[in-house]
Amino acid sequence: MLMAKPFRLTGRNLGLELVRVTEAAAIASDHWTGYGNKIEADGAAVKAMREAFDNVAINGTVAIGEGEMDQAPMLYIGEKVGCGGPEFDIAVDPLEGTNLCARSLPNALTVIALAEKGQFLHAPDVYMEKIAVGPDVPENVVDIDASITTNLRELAKAKGKSPSDLTLCALERDRHEEMIAKARETGARVRLLSDGDVAAVIATCLPLSGVDLYAGSGGAPEGVLAAAAVRCMKGHMQARLLFENDQQLQRAKIMMKDQDPKRRLELCDLANGHVFFCATGVTPGYLLEGVENLDTGYRRTHSVVMRSETGTIRYIRAYHHVATKRLQTNFF
Ligand code: FBP
Repeated sequence: MLMAKPFRLTGRNLGLELVRVTEAAAIASDHWTGYGNKIEADGAAVKAMREAFDNVAINGTVAIGEGEMDQAPMLYIGEKVGCGGPEFDIAVDPLEGTNLCARSLPNALTVIALAEKGQFLHAPDVYMEKIAVGPDVPENVVDIDASITTNLRELAKAKGKSPSDLTLCALERDRHEEMIAKARETGARVRLLSDGDVAAVIATCLPLSGVDLYAGSGGAPEGVLAAAAVRCMKGHMQARLLFENDQQLQRAKIMMKDQDPKRRLELCDLANGHVFFCATGVTPGYLLEGVENLDTGYRRTHSVVMRSETGTIRYIRAYHHVATKRLQTNFF
């Protein structure tokens, strides 16, 4: 008698199916690029991503999404997505960098990561302190508990360079002022971003980005998504959740069960096991070009699909025929 083979995550590159979902969200949010309306841009991306998931043959559960059920109508934590198949946890950011899209600035992305059940950090939408470096240095050269001065010196040593040869990337926020000043005292350059730390963390793993170190705090969901990409790219990242009030801490305690919500998080605490990462550019950035409107009636998208198990990083350029797709979908 023929026995059904158990599903193996290794057997199927799900990233190639997920890319259609990030493409749909990118094209939908591109309609809003530069129009100053981040709410509409985000709403369009969420709707397109949610609908496109209906064609993906998985039984997905949103582990990192648009918020908790009472705050988000779609892609909320716990929502089921996909049209049936093997079970996975999904992390999504339908539009990472809503302001970047609204203001037509670089690095807006649509992002999805996928892992086996229970392998993403289960945490509320709070801030997260993050530090990341690329695969060109050994693990633990930088340490989230060390000062920025020590980290830049150790990183320079590991790269056989001086701190003045290094570039730190950070979000331009008042809370980072001291870190930025201390980094500059070492001689390092600081590249400041208005938004979009998923792309900035990933930039540490891209040889041509010119970014050696990412440090600072940003969203925890973005931290988990960036961690999935860093795992695929064999880089290094550490993190810690930050709580602004007791309510956030208590919520985290419930979600994280018996774990200490304030503990230091290693890369595998953020995204463990075999993971897939998939992103499409909305505006051009470190990782990808943005959505392009071609005179021929096509929209061209640029996406990346990564897989931790094989380490393959695949760039996908797709041409979408607008008139045909308008007939078939609601995305255009
Ligand atoms: P949105 O896409 O939700 O607007 O987030 C953009 C972002 O810059 C993230 O990349 C980053 O993690 C977070 O916001 C930083 O939060 P804050 O703006 O509160 O410092």
